[in-house]
Amino acid sequence: MRQRIIMDVDTGVDDSLALLYLLASPDAEIAGIAATAGNVPAAQVAINNLAWLELAGAPEIEVALGAADPLEIPLRTTEDTHGPHGIGYADLPTPTRSLSSRTADRLWVDLARRYPGELIGLCTGPLTNLALALRTEPDLPRLLRRLVIMGGAFNHPGNTTPTNEWNIHVDPEAAKIVFDAFAAAPPDRRPLVCALDITETIEMRPVHLAELAERAGSLPVETVSPADPPGPRSAASNPIIRHLTDAVRFYFDFHRDHDLGYLAHMHDPFAAAVALDPTLVRTRPATVDVELTGTLTRATTVADWAGMWGRPPNADIVVATDPARFFDRMIGRIGDFARDRFPAEATTGHQ
Ligand code: BDR
Ligand code: CA
Repeated sequence: MRQRIIMDVDTGVDDSLALLYLLASPDAEIAGIAATAGNVPAAQVAINNLAWLELAGAPEIEVALGAADPLEIPLRTTEDTHGPHGIGYADLPTPTRSLSSRTADRLWVDLARRYPGELIGLCTGPLTNLALALRTEPDLPRLLRRLVIMGGAFNHPGNTTPTNEWNIHVDPEAAKIVFDAFAAAPPDRRPLVCALDITETIEMRPVHLAELAERAGSLPVETVSPADPPGPRSAASNPIIRHLTDAVRFYFDFHRDHDLGYLAHMHDPFAAAVALDPTLVRTRPATVDVELTGTLTRATTVADWAGMWGRPPNADIVVATDPARFFDRMIGRIGDFARDRFPAEATTGHQ
């Protein structure tokens, strides 16, 4: 059975893989995409999503533009992490599809009301638009079937400041609104939180890209390497594999430049996989709050695991998973999808 999902993304190299993962999943139906400002400005996020949808030959899926700025602070973007347009070295064809006339927060509200108890929310960017939607529809926590959030760092260092994870850092006020909104949610509606503690164990390496190419029947099977001269482009015959290789190579380079090794943390496709199948993970309930005033620690997520605040849990934090199982699934799904979209004999032209 297909599960209806609203994605809220700041695409983004790893958001791109999250989108492809859901498009490639027979058990998913993307009901709409909210384009949120984060890695790159919201307008660019929207273009990136439309471009991937078009390349993937996806059915018409609504892409709604989110707020240009976080709720209370100026937008900070991170082109150094995700490339000048958010998709690394990839240069996707300009999409002919157009944006929805609805705003991203309206999309959340309308879809949640249209499919009460059915819709799964997946947030892989800052929580700006979900926070705005909560102002209009405070009952969202009960209307959604499940919410999965990629964000935060608990017993783990940050990736943006010593204690901040990027998605929370960009819009901490929005994150606090979202976690506060789930304070009274029943246990089966608590958000599943994929924080850096777990997503930094999801290490994609060149071998995974090669396996994807093989699975897709794409030639040549390339093994990107830190020894490659800067800025090479993939020659893969399959356009999805070619653009993905160019996107992910940038992410590898970024991680290498930050002494993390020639790999990339696949935060967002992992969260997408969890959204479809929570049995991939083990979780622990906690009360999560967001620091808004600390001089060194603003935008830090704090988890009360032991009930010290005397407040009920408002989140289920992912504490364990099997990364190899996730990669097998991702490579199988996206590889098969790319092969079916561009069968080997039909991939001689350039897209
Ligand atoms: C998150 O930050 C973004 O740069 C990634 O797309 C991911 O959603 C990881 O901290
Ligand atoms: Ca993201």
